[in-house]
Amino acid sequence: MQPQVLVLGSANADLVVEVPHRPAGGETVLGSDARVLPGGKGANTAVAAARLGARVALTAAIGEDAHGDLLLTSLREAGVDTTAVRRATRPTGTALITVTPDGENSIVVSPGANATLTASDVDVTGAAVLVASLEIPLAVVEHAIAAAAAAGVRPILNLSPVAALAPETLAALDPLIVNEHEAAALGDLLALGCRSAIVTRGPAGATVLTPGGSVDLPAPQVTPVDTTGAGDAFAGALAAELAAGATLEAATGLAIEVASVSVTRPGAQPSYPARADLH
Ligand code: RIB
Repeated sequence: MQPQVLVLGSANADLVVEVPHRPAGGETVLGSDARVLPGGKGANTAVAAARLGARVALTAAIGEDAHGDLLLTSLREAGVDTTAVRRATRPTGTALITVTPDGENSIVVSPGANATLTASDVDVTGAAVLVASLEIPLAVVEHAIAAAAAAGVRPILNLSPVAALAPETLAALDPLIVNEHEAAALGDLLALGCRSAIVTRGPAGATVLTPGGSVDLPAPQVTPVDTTGAGDAFAGALAAELAAGATLEAATGLAIEVASVSVTRPGAQPSYPARADLH
């Protein structure tokens, strides 16, 4: 069966340690026991969309190792089609994550197998929506967005980590998703040429930008324990709702709700709610 939502992005094992504060250069900080959790921006996005009931497929690359097995198990338990998750000779990507008591995180990523993705891994056939993110080669992301636009598949890009995009890539995006820091660096988002844009603002919600104007949507007030993967939860939920026919504003409202739930629970994929968990 064809997916409604095709996700393209990284798949990582997250090595997570809670710390009282982030170490400065040359400093050693003692933290909690380390946990190994399924993560990566692409795999996270796919799981978030699947938990809402969308038919989801992920295009990604993992290693022939235990971290790769961990990812496949998490993806399959969420109902994600992993046919296009290729095993590579390089190790599964690894993210070294520290989480401070305020729920904030710092992440170092070793891309490993993610760096082996090529344009030939991408097949957008039959999808309603493509949602991509970085931590994989930029050329593959730009190829996928061009292929989606040509095939009538709605391309969404979560520009995380931020990268410089070709004008024709920007022009296809509907929407471009950036956080407020990235938005400030990029300037007038619609002037960049994208069809729509969303600026995520953490606890303050998100702003939807279209040629018709901008709308600020609030977020519920929650106490965060771990913000890791909240942006991926937002992108996955947005893609699931858009694929199901929601308006951009309605889809953004639900995506804010999903991201808000995710920050109240530890980890990335383990923190994502099912539709029944939402109000
Ligand atoms: O966005 C959160 C993700 O970033 C983590 O799961 C980590 O793997 C890195 O890719």
